[in-house]
Amino acid sequence: MNFISATGFTDDLPDLEISIEKAVSDDDFIKKICTPLFGGGKRLRPILFLLCARAGKNYSKEKALPLATALELIHTASLVHDDILDGANKRRGVETLNSKYSAQIAVLVGDYLFAKAFQLVSENNYGDEISLALSKLVKNLCIGEIMQDRALFVVPTLSEYYSRINLKTAFFLSTCCRLGGIVAKLEKSDVENLANYGTSLGLAFQIVDDLLDFFGEEKVTGKALGGDLKSGVITLPVIRALQAGKNFTTLKNIITQDKISDSDVSTAIKIISESDAVEYCKNRAASHIDCAKLDLPPVIENSVKLSLEKISDFVINRNR
Ligand code: FPP
Ligand code: MG
Repeated sequence: MNFISATGFTDDLPDLEISIEKAVSDDDFIKKICTPLFGGGKRLRPILFLLCARAGKNYSKEKALPLATALELIHTASLVHDDILDGANKRRGVETLNSKYSAQIAVLVGDYLFAKAFQLVSENNYGDEISLALSKLVKNLCIGEIMQDRALFVVPTLSEYYSRINLKTAFFLSTCCRLGGIVAKLEKSDVENLANYGTSLGLAFQIVDDLLDFFGEEKVTGKALGGDLKSGVITLPVIRALQAGKNFTTLKNIITQDKISDSDVSTAIKIISESDAVEYCKNRAASHIDCAKLDLPPVIENSVKLSLEKISDFVINRNR
């Protein structure tokens, strides 16, 4: 089952795709270079926003779509820049811009997508609260990446790992839910609860992402295995496997050298799978999902609540 059918929510999605396509059609070269970037995305962020925007009684698709589009553009811009930082060759099943063209082109395309997102937001008069939330979101994405980049090949503490994944992923999902709640004109406390749902969902999402980096199928995830390790990003499966003690020295030696080969990645995967790290990560992700579900406010429309619950179940069982 893919992500979109798992949510049981499809209403606005054809229009969302048209809106994304239109947003990157300013010029023939931009269109040619940008369209493939959106190919294999799950649309998790705009879907969270659109669902939360439907949580109240006054949903307007016309009002919601430009902001949903802007969220996917910001996310894609961040991935384009992330691939430069990681030196990644593949994303969403296609060759990255830094690999196919150059890092220079990729920087500019990321900037372009980012600017387009803010153009959509300004043109549609969403107001200061939403603009401020978006600025804070991008600021946190950058801080999360800077923290990560400053500590490459260094084993983070559990709390450092959590701060990082909160800034680079959970805060984004939380913002999508918060913006939906604001557009739906929910009470402040209900908006906060939706945002808390997004935070817990995001923590679980990133932990699963970090597991998939070691145990995913490249054809399904659309990116190369062991990418985090090779770029020096040390994540929860490794942190836990190191704590478990067995083969500590071999694993520590692999992850702290600045050139990691495919065979090092295979050895690391073997050590991780022989420890309790996979189970530990899955348990942590599952407990964040339990918290996410508990945060869903009772006032929201039943069908929206059901879809948000399905999304949270999908996030821990996903393979891409
Ligand atoms: C993917 O996560 C990357 C991110 C969640 C954030 C990247 C953010 C920046 C590069 C800051 C710049 C932002 C903008 C808007 C221009 P990951 O690296 O854990 O996962 P991956 O395996 O998919 O690369
Ligand atoms: Mg990355």
